[in-house]
Amino acid sequence: MKLIHTIDDLRDQLRGQNRVAMVPTMGKLHAGHLALMNMARQHGDPVVASIFVNRLQFGPGEDFERYPRSLEADCQKLEAQRAVYVVFAPDDKEMYPEPQNYRVQPPADLADILEGEFRPGFFVGVCTVVLKLFSCVQPRVAVFGKKDYQQLMIVRAMCRQFQLPVEILAHETVRDEDGLALSSRNVYLSPEERAEAPQLYATLRQVQDSLRGGQHDTARLEREAIERLAGRGWQVDYVSVRRQRDLRTADPDQVRGGEPLVVLAAAKLGTTRLIDNLEL
Ligand code: PAJ
Repeated sequence: MKLIHTIDDLRDQLRGQNRVAMVPTMGKLHAGHLALMNMARQHGDPVVASIFVNRLQFGPGEDFERYPRSLEADCQKLEAQRAVYVVFAPDDKEMYPEPQNYRVQPPADLADILEGEFRPGFFVGVCTVVLKLFSCVQPRVAVFGKKDYQQLMIVRAMCRQFQLPVEILAHETVRDEDGLALSSRNVYLSPEERAEAPQLYATLRQVQDSLRGGQHDTARLEREAIERLAGRGWQVDYVSVRRQRDLRTADPDQVRGGEPLVVLAAAKLGTTRLIDNLEL
């Protein structure tokens, strides 16, 4: 496995490769990330993992400064996994040698809702860095996690609309035994918060159960879910039932007619913001 820090070295290393599979990450790797690497391994060769904490996708007052960084431990995990051939870990100057004035502006109907409503500019930052990473690595496939459901949809749509020759593959959300979706941010949780954290997924499961039980009033289900979490001390940004195909709300006829839905949620426990979702 090779650890590479510059775009020049990366291009040298990958010259002539046309089946590259890539997994973009911000590091502090956990079993969810590693599952994506294994999936990449099955769809291309060599596999390139990128590790870059992208300043552009953090808003003022968000956790850019304190976002966990652990390049050495990450490399050890990847080495042990034997799925990855190149780790591309550029620093800020390498990715942004000059102010990034050209940016990818994803459409408001996809990118200004849900996460985009609570994190203005987030998806501009994500799309811009993903486009730059793709331009450096030139992968044939790239693997993204369903844990970041909206991100996956937006990146996919970006590739389609820019006609990038990259196929985006989706990996299911990897969870701890108690249901909590693995996340680099879980390290922020105190022991008490960690014990409470699985309730986010439990709440999504309740929404799923209610829908399956024939309760089709999604607005009411959302309200009940928000109240349940708030009652347990969470600060809820949203719990929202949406159509899988475009993340718009479904009308009651569509809900009854079996429209594929997904329930998405974001909420804070103390100072830690967690997101999760469940396809229904
Ligand atoms: P990061 O949060 O490090 O996640 C990297 C990839 O791992 C994303 O595709 C994310 O959806 C996936 N992932 C994280 N936790 C997961 C889990 N529990 N199960 C399955 N997949 C999981 O997402 C980003 O970084 C950044 O926004 C990035 C795309 C790298 C752009 O900076």
